[in-house]
Amino acid sequence: MPDSAQLVIVANRLPVDRVDLPDGTRGWRRSPGGLVTALDPVMRANDGVWIGWPGGTESDLEPFEDDGLSLVPVSLTEDEIEEFYEGMSNATLWPIYHDVVAKPEFHREWWDSYVTVNRRFAEKAVEVAEEGATVWVHDYQLQLVPQMLRDLRPDLRIGFYLHIPFPPAELFAQLPWRRQILEGLLGADLVGFQMSGGAQNFVRLVRQRVGHKTHRDLVYLPDGRTIRAAAFPISIDAEGFEELARSEGVTKRAAEIREALGEERRVFLGIDRLDYTKGIVARLRAFAELVEEGKLDVDDAVFVQVATPSRERVEQYRILRDEIDRFVGRVNGDLGRIGTPAISYLHSSYPREEMAALYRAADIMVVTPYRDGMNLVAKEYVACRYDDAGALVLSEFAGAADELRQAWQVNPYDINGMKSALLEAFHAPEKDTTRRMRAMRRTVLRKDVAAWARSFLEGLSEIRPEHGKTVRP
Ligand code: G6P
Repeated sequence: MPDSAQLVIVANRLPVDRVDLPDGTRGWRRSPGGLVTALDPVMRANDGVWIGWPGGTESDLEPFEDDGLSLVPVSLTEDEIEEFYEGMSNATLWPIYHDVVAKPEFHREWWDSYVTVNRRFAEKAVEVAEEGATVWVHDYQLQLVPQMLRDLRPDLRIGFYLHIPFPPAELFAQLPWRRQILEGLLGADLVGFQMSGGAQNFVRLVRQRVGHKTHRDLVYLPDGRTIRAAAFPISIDAEGFEELARSEGVTKRAAEIREALGEERRVFLGIDRLDYTKGIVARLRAFAELVEEGKLDVDDAVFVQVATPSRERVEQYRILRDEIDRFVGRVNGDLGRIGTPAISYLHSSYPREEMAALYRAADIMVVTPYRDGMNLVAKEYVACRYDDAGALVLSEFAGAADELRQAWQVNPYDINGMKSALLEAFHAPEKDTTRRMRAMRRTVLRKDVAAWARSFLEGLSEIRPEHGKTVRP
């Protein structure tokens, strides 16, 4: 464990999960997220340290190494999990930043806890960052950290990246703490977003609400500092996914899945965290109506929906889970036959291997969020289809729609439009799906997550080049 680091990653979650080991002790397992894959090489090249919450309420965790990565756990109390994580992060900010798809709640105690926890993360970062180090702060849970860092350590070079959408000014303005959040973010030298629309929303808000001068993607502070707000669309480890999809184990598993579903049936697939932003019920409704109307038959088609458990103690997530349970039960009760349900619903999380096998087994991938920063599932599906087969139905409100133009794009609020797209994708001639998939594969393979990390860190070192040390890419 280095005493001080030249690169510090600050994210709400550590890139490992707590697990019970066979010998009865507690250990760590690398979590499957793409962020750690992207940052692993830069972390190693720069004596990097990753600061994050390991989940749960364990409080006496010391910094440790996992497979060569230096990790520093930040503890949360039971109250902080409720107020900072489930409350302010996931019941206030999450819905506001996603088009108010659910009604946000505003509670002053949640805000207080958000400030306290952000300060704890900032203080940990300051402890481990060497003189002139680069600190890269991630996502909506930690928007106050950049300014806290700057106050404590003006020598640092500070980057912030928002993984979710940044909302239009009209929605952001609802936040009672809108000014504090903007000022928190303005502590960074570079503020990165998924889409240029998010960066523009931010710059406009800074001009309107904080009164700073701005020009294009730059914000000029009264103290002479310049901040850049720009888009860096995130991606996946595309080669890694393709390699996995080609492996013998995944090939075998994909064949098993097809056999279990019925070889002659075409497979529609949805894979999402169980979240109200994902539009799960609406897409299942579109499919079910097609079956009801006789446009699809359960002997020819099945919808596999995987919903990964998420934020299960937050009320809106519980309500959604019940809604999906009821909906799937009713559809299968009404439309299924013995051994052939219309919807095969799995409420579970799976390792990357199983996901890759599902992607390979699916004829039509259906990704229809009401609002999504990027949506990596869409890109993973494309990366796994080295056979150039398979169709993608994609919401125009996912960030990925900007790049994956050859998908069948849909408005997830328009059930009839989704029904037409599902049918078109189902009946599309092979020539058409191949042409579309090839084009999408070129896009996904060209810009992977390592390129994303490099371009953000390069962008960060270009601002005030005289200030702080430069991170080795
Ligand atoms: C989204 C967010 C991440 C978050 C992840 C899982 O992708 O952008 O910051 O970690 O969801 O959610 P969770 O609440 O389990 O961390």
